[in-house]
Amino acid sequence: MTPHIADRILKLKREKGAVILAHNYQRPEVQDIADIVGDSFELALKAKTLEPDIVVFCGVHFMAESCKILAPEKTVLLPAMDAGCPLADTITAEGLRRLKKEHPGIPVVTYINSTAAVKAESDYCCTSANAARVVNAIDSDTVIFAPDANLGSFVQQHTRKKLLLWDGHCIVHQRVLVEEILQIKAVHDNAPVIAHPECQPDVVGMADVVCSTSRMIPESKNAPGDTVIIVTEAGMLHPLKKAVPEKHFILASPKLICRNMKKITLNNVLEVLETGRNSIHVDPITAKQAMIPLSRMLSIGADMTAKL
Ligand code: 13P
Ligand code: SF4
Repeated sequence: MTPHIADRILKLKREKGAVILAHNYQRPEVQDIADIVGDSFELALKAKTLEPDIVVFCGVHFMAESCKILAPEKTVLLPAMDAGCPLADTITAEGLRRLKKEHPGIPVVTYINSTAAVKAESDYCCTSANAARVVNAIDSDTVIFAPDANLGSFVQQHTRKKLLLWDGHCIVHQRVLVEEILQIKAVHDNAPVIAHPECQPDVVGMADVVCSTSRMIPESKNAPGDTVIIVTEAGMLHPLKKAVPEKHFILASPKLICRNMKKITLNNVLEVLETGRNSIHVDPITAKQAMIPLSRMLSIGADMTAKL
């Protein structure tokens, strides 16, 4: 009998001494063969402290690239090289340089959903787990925040600083409409709404909790009642159901699917483990520059207690 593909992956992973990291939006079967599943902040932190030399990164390109920047001595394999992030693609290094020229001396905070070249032009990185914390840690009354304008608007409510926003959006979170949540609320009126800060401001405004993907787990556990409305990419339902089996989760919209996250499959995970193909390369000068904002972010940490 041919061993199941998941068993082949686990065997090969052990033989090669590799580790598999997966984002919360990955397919359930991919999350289930991963050593670590988490949000962007947790995965970046892990990249820095992991022992194995080979990392199979199940996520989108900027995540694997950040892992390579933080751990340049490791081989980082991305099972689908075309798993991009349309939000990250809304800004280029040249575009950011232009904005910096218009606002000389103003520090730049860049969301981790960005390319290495954009990070290299930035002073700080942040994720959804620490955006307000990073902005508030900066000694300046004005901060350039790029590229997610929805996250930026949310952070603006949690800081006295003036944010100059880049007009980028996540096409997945942008699709959710307040009306969809109201329709669910009409049936489950007491169910709390937990939303990702990449959602539009009116959606964020009606949420009971706004937080990173991993933070949704303890927030759901502590939420009142037995039903929770989740406003983020559909993959998040898998870790939620595993960690909080006593609750019922309702996804706010069927449109909450990130096609790029779903490009990673058990087949291409096995393939990169077998062949060593799809190794992430970052030009050393860009990597050295991009390491600075990423390291600053890691030393500021995540906000593990506040709801952002
Ligand atoms: P998290 O860092 O909250 O997991 O979010 C990553 C992301 O891409 C959201 O769309
Ligand atoms: Fe990018 Fe949005 Fe997909 Fe997250 S959900 S990876 S921000 S496109």
